[in-house]
Amino acid sequence: MIIISLLLLASLLPHLTFTARVNVGIVDGTEAKPHSRPYMVSVQSNKTHICGGFLISDEFVLTAGHCRNGSQILTVVVGAHDLRNSKNSDRIGVKSYIPHPSYTIHLPWNDIMLLRLQEKVNLNNDVKWISLPKKGEDVEVNTLCSVAGWGQLQTNGPLSSLLMEANVHVMNNSECYKRWGQTYYSVEQMMCTRGNGGSCRGDSGGPFINIKT
Ligand SMILES: *[C@@H]1O[C@H](CO)[C@@H](O)[C@H](O)[C@H]1NC(C)=O
Ligand SMILES: *[C@@H]1O[C@H](CO)[C@@H](O)[C@H](O)[C@H]1NC(C)=O
Ligand SMILES: *[C@@H]1O[C@H](CO)[C@@H](O)[C@H](O)[C@H]1NC(C)=O
Repeated sequence: MIIISLLLLASLLPHLTFTARVNVGIVDGTEAKPHSRPYMVSVQSNKTHICGGFLISDEFVLTAGHCRNGSQILTVVVGAHDLRNSKNSDRIGVKSYIPHPSYTIHLPWNDIMLLRLQEKVNLNNDVKWISLPKKGEDVEVNTLCSVAGWGQLQTNGPLSSLLMEANVHVMNNSECYKRWGQTYYSVEQMMCTRGNGGSCRGDSGGPFINIKT
């Protein structure tokens, strides 16, 4: 099965983005080596995983706008691999929610949100931030990238307690437009990927990483 994902791309983040509005599920991925992605966070509500996210400093997490519903209180879990085992992970509250000012819940555009944490994370081998790409950097068609998350293992299936990852390739704009149309696709904000595996519900907000950089 080839999974076609639509990845929302903040205009300032040409090759590190996050998955939003994907059609199917990380499906057909593999378990990540524990703590090999120390920037990954699980965004949770009532101690239940709802989205992925990633540390971009010791105080800010980037995730998707649709990961918060109304005035929902979110927490983030850093340093996790198996979400069932909280021994080595930390839960941190959110001090402020900073969704893109033009984001609205019913539309796919500008689906990005910063979370300012209540306290700075303790950086260690399992907890690190990831650098954002520079403004204006391009990602060529067919670039090998990866996605990771604790989302569903198959469409309408269970969430994964282990962090999963999959490799994907960037698709060209015309093919992406053909798949999604103008109702969902914005060439300035998004890119499509193809791969044998890909993101699913619950992987939203996670990073899209150019493997070469
Ligand atoms: C939070 O989770 C607990 C146990 O999983 C559940 O009993 C409770 O109803 C949940 N609360 C909300 C507000 O969803
Ligand atoms: C958001 O909250 C409303 C009201 O509590 C609920 O009906 C809706 O299903 C929620 N949406 C999501 C995506 O959780
Ligand atoms: C885009 O990809 C499709 C499918 O692989 C291919 O048929 C098409 O020629 C490509 N278009 C461009 C402009 O590269």
